[in-house]
Amino acid sequence: MDRPALASSLAFLRPAAGQNAPPAESLEPVPGDSTPQARRAIDASPLLDPGNPDYGRLQNIGEATRHMPYDANRFPDWMKALNQGLIKPRSSLSGNETMEVLDLDIIMRNTKEMPYVRFPHKSHTLWLACSNCHPAPFKPQTGSTSIRMADIFRGQYCGMCHDRVAFITFFSCQRCHSVPQPDRAGPPH
Ligand code: HEC
Ligand code: HEC
Ligand code: HEC
Repeated sequence: MDRPALASSLAFLRPAAGQNAPPAESLEPVPGDSTPQARRAIDASPLLDPGNPDYGRLQNIGEATRHMPYDANRFPDWMKALNQGLIKPRSSLSGNETMEVLDLDIIMRNTKEMPYVRFPHKSHTLWLACSNCHPAPFKPQTGSTSIRMADIFRGQYCGMCHDRVAFITFFSCQRCHSVPQPDRAGPPH
């Protein structure tokens, strides 16, 4: 598929306009500024009120995360931090339970012109319980769930966590769509 055709078929991926949408100019590259687009867009979102008297007491995100490994969008890479032992989340409030880790990748092939999706159980079950995903939103049976990107962007399926507590979907297609289709060279961009 050529680029204009791809762009129009993915038109639904545009961020919704609204009060909290970043101003369009924050998405334009600034000469000399190497900050990735995603980071600039989020930093420009008016989530906090600088007029609040306690604004200055909040911990600065750059300072709080400066020892963390970063991903391509310059947000903390939580998987790397976990795998490198930089963070050690508790299994429960008491911390006495052990996590049930499942090392099973699921390859999802209903991806149109995009590379296939690899869902890694291991990365998830290092800190999530099976019951976070089974039986809802996913039946524990490969291929039983029909997922569209529009649903994910609306906060369903993978989007229950991604874009919310896990990495940003909009700027990280290749982190999920990581398996080249056999008859294609790679992602279309
Ligand atoms: C959090 C993981 C994740 C991210 C990030 C992600 N996707 Fe997907 N995508 C999926 C899953 C899961 C499916 C469904 C695969 C299946 O059912 O076989 C899918 C399906 C698709 C499909 C085919 C279905 C449809 O809705 O048309 C397209 C096209 C697609 N993704 C494009 C993208 C693009 C472009 C991006 C980046 C802007 C992106 N995806 C980012 C997980 C992701
Ligand atoms: C973050 C979400 C998530 C968590 C947590 C999770 N799973 Fe899954 N699991 C999935 C998804 C997504 C699929 C694929 C569903 C589909 O293709 O429709 C799946 C599929 C499965 C399958 C089907 C495999 C097959 O070959 O058909 C089994 C079995 C399974 N999970 C067991 C578990 C167990 C046991 C745990 C806990 C140790 C667990 N899952 C934790 C998301 C999760
Ligand atoms: C219940 C919450 C939840 C759901 C549902 C969920 N994820 Fe995740 N996912 C996480 C968390 C938490 C992380 C780790 C934090 C991060 O990387 O931002 C993660 C990380 C990942 C990673 C990075 C793995 C690595 O080792 O670097 C991929 C890929 C991924 N998820 C794909 C998916 C796909 C595809 C789906 C839907 C089929 C999905 N996730 C559904 C919570 C979830």
